[in-house]
Amino acid sequence: MASPAEWEQAARAALPADVYDYIATGSGVEETLAGNDRAWHEVALRPRVLRDVSDVETATSVLGTPVASPVLVAPTGYHRLAHPDGEVATAKGTAEAGSLFVLSTRATASLDEVAAVAGPWWMQHYLLRDRDLTAEIVRGAVDAGARALVLTADTPYVATKARVGAVPVGPSVPRLVPAMETRDDEGTWQDPAVTFKDIGWLRELSGGLPVVVKGVLRGDDARACVDAGAAAVWVSNHGARQLDGAIPTAVALPQVRAAVGEACEVYVDGGIRTGRDVVRALALGATAAFVGRPALWALGTGGADGVRELLTSLQAEVAETLALCGCRSVSDVNADLAAVPPGRAMRG
Ligand SMILES: Cc1cc2nc3c(=O)[nH]c(=O)nc-3n(C[C@H](O)[C@H](O)[C@H](O)COP(=O)(O)O)c2cc1C
Repeated sequence: MASPAEWEQAARAALPADVYDYIATGSGVEETLAGNDRAWHEVALRPRVLRDVSDVETATSVLGTPVASPVLVAPTGYHRLAHPDGEVATAKGTAEAGSLFVLSTRATASLDEVAAVAGPWWMQHYLLRDRDLTAEIVRGAVDAGARALVLTADTPYVATKARVGAVPVGPSVPRLVPAMETRDDEGTWQDPAVTFKDIGWLRELSGGLPVVVKGVLRGDDARACVDAGAAAVWVSNHGARQLDGAIPTAVALPQVRAAVGEACEVYVDGGIRTGRDVVRALALGATAAFVGRPALWALGTGGADGVRELLTSLQAEVAETLALCGCRSVSDVNADLAAVPPGRAMRG
């Protein structure tokens, strides 16, 4: 199976309709969902020629961890909805592809189960109203071997989705956080009072692990995250599942990169579907790009093997795109490689 679109079609046929809709949906009337895709397509690549691209290398690193390519796996909840092996299979397939997995607070597997099969992985946190419970999850993740903590900043409340109400997950499905097992829990757990100060709180609590702030869409916020001690910022609109009408990530990314300069790594997600999109993201200032839904489609259809195949084929597409752009490596990609529509800011 080649593309995320094909994985999605197969997953649509294989999964119950309510599970498919839960994964596919955006919030509101899905303006941002459409905007994310469109904004990548509007970035034109400006290939260089006559550069000897007989050897092309996709390998890179994130926060000092080597990865096979700049395509990594974003945190998404409830993987057991898509496949009985849930996050364990996703982590395994991701490790086999030499990529990095981010485990969601809303996972349906235990930290130990995931850590046993994972390659490098980070832990995504929602800061919960119950800070003692949050601290317990953070310590558990540190003990299990998480290499960084990801603070999701765009979800003070869970937005109303376009196509579904409650998450279609039964009480018998195991949870990483067993306290969050009630069916109607979405939205009642997250603390809406989170501020930049909590970046330091997380860092201290974890004994100094890097903190990545996910859900940043503005340059001034990115700068404030760095000033508050963030090791990296992640440009994301939660796959168009939070504020509908939010700026597409391909539009926000260059502004965020311009604001932080080279002070930190910058990641991006939202509508990344091809190796071309990944190279566009690099050109607009990203250190690496993450996929959310594509990993769930591949998991739902092919389990760990599906996730590995998806990531391997995206890596191959990145290599082909780099070669056709006259780049031998990820570090050859710069702002000069992309043209954006008039009026859209580049990275400065
Ligand atoms: C079904 C689903 C569940 C998600 N759950 C979480 C989550 O638990 N934590 C989080 O930070 N982001 C979550 N996200 C957002 C993803 O991390 C990511 O930002 C988004 O999926 C990227 O867009 P893409 O799906 O277009 O690749 C979720 C996204 C989806 C589709």
